[in-house]
Amino acid sequence: MNILILGGGGREHALAWAVMQNPKCDKLIVAPGNAGIAQIAECARLDIMDPGAVATFAEQNAIDFVIVGPEAPLAAGVADRLRAAGISVFGPSAAAARLEASKSFTKEICDAAGAPTAGYAHFTDHAAARAHVKEHGAPIVIKADGLAAGKGVVVAETVDQALEALDDMFGGAFGEAGAEVVIEEFMEGEEASFFVLCDGEDALPIGTAQDHKRVGEGDTGPNTGGMGAYSPAPVLTDAVAQKTMDEIVYPTLKEMARRGTPYQGVLYVGLMIRDGQPRLVEYNVRFGDPECQALMMRLGAQVFDLMQAAAEGRLSDCSVNWADDHAMTVVMAAEGYPGAYEKGSVIGGLEDCPEDSFQMVFHAGTARERGQFVANGGRVLNITARGASLQEARDRAYAMVDRIDWPQGFCRRDIGWRAL
Ligand code: AMP
Ligand code: GLY
Repeated sequence: MNILILGGGGREHALAWAVMQNPKCDKLIVAPGNAGIAQIAECARLDIMDPGAVATFAEQNAIDFVIVGPEAPLAAGVADRLRAAGISVFGPSAAAARLEASKSFTKEICDAAGAPTAGYAHFTDHAAARAHVKEHGAPIVIKADGLAAGKGVVVAETVDQALEALDDMFGGAFGEAGAEVVIEEFMEGEEASFFVLCDGEDALPIGTAQDHKRVGEGDTGPNTGGMGAYSPAPVLTDAVAQKTMDEIVYPTLKEMARRGTPYQGVLYVGLMIRDGQPRLVEYNVRFGDPECQALMMRLGAQVFDLMQAAAEGRLSDCSVNWADDHAMTVVMAAEGYPGAYEKGSVIGGLEDCPEDSFQMVFHAGTARERGQFVANGGRVLNITARGASLQEARDRAYAMVDRIDWPQGFCRRDIGWRAL
């Protein structure tokens, strides 16, 4: 088969790595890809936000199957356009992608499905939102309604912080995304992510993970896209996973189907777990980044068969072949991230890193200049390893980190600390 993956980060490198190993894969193109992906697949320039351009590209290149990495092309209707052109695609329609694109939509679905989640109220009026915060007090959570690249959420510890967040959002800090605001009850507990493949009707769990969102060790400092992750997540026990399927995932799929917008693709179920009870924090309509890198290391080539089954409505016949293992990914970022950082610094030592089914350096933001790898983003490398225990995966991952010669980069040295 000829397969096209859309995206160009560490998530897509990991997806490409897993898909390449599947014997069904004859040819793999990744658009736009990055310098790491270019080592294993063809990279193509393509405006992945333009549904027509993607469909034309897929037809011209005789693509049989498309995997959409990030959420933005899904929200823009790329999967709809491909399906209309008769091309098989893994990823939800724009209508179903609203589970990530609109926080108030997700809340409405949870209400209709009876899925446990934080209490909330939805505002388009600044004054009414301020009054609500004053009435409820802190801690309280303020969210811009639309896609804000993970930056539209403020967990306010004081009323003043909450009011300030409202000023920013109604003041246009997030553009259109801030014209509507959801205010949520603060949920206590331990956070974990649950990844479920969905074919519109059936669902198949494919793994659990926890990530570290803060830039600093001990989970301190500003929020980032994620500085590391590990799988499985100990807090997501079999019993919690079953509860999540019964109380959250299946009722959501049923409600989406009832509305005529069935959900197909991977559902990233962000949970807050307390005393064995999961509550939904958020849905994402894509794999988490960097959680995907740890998941792919554990699942390997079979993930392509499962994605194909999801796209073709055959998940009820599928099961996952589990190894009883653990994986960890450590993000190396450019100094300054998540604030301002420089591009172009040279990364050495990559040739010395072992790459096999136990350890891989996935590239998140690299480019190739004059024969050398250079940093080309904030999060740059995702050092990923697996082992029989989390400790073994960790030791393997940090041994690779230590081989990398990149003075302008940094990483957290404590990924997985809660579980270890
Ligand atoms: P979201 O983009 O909705 O996932 O929010 C980003 C992060 O904010 C989550 O990963 C949580 O750590 C935190 N968060 C969001 N909503 C809540 C809530 N209702 N209670 C506690 N923490 C929350
Ligand atoms: N690592 C969090 C996310 O992908 O949203």
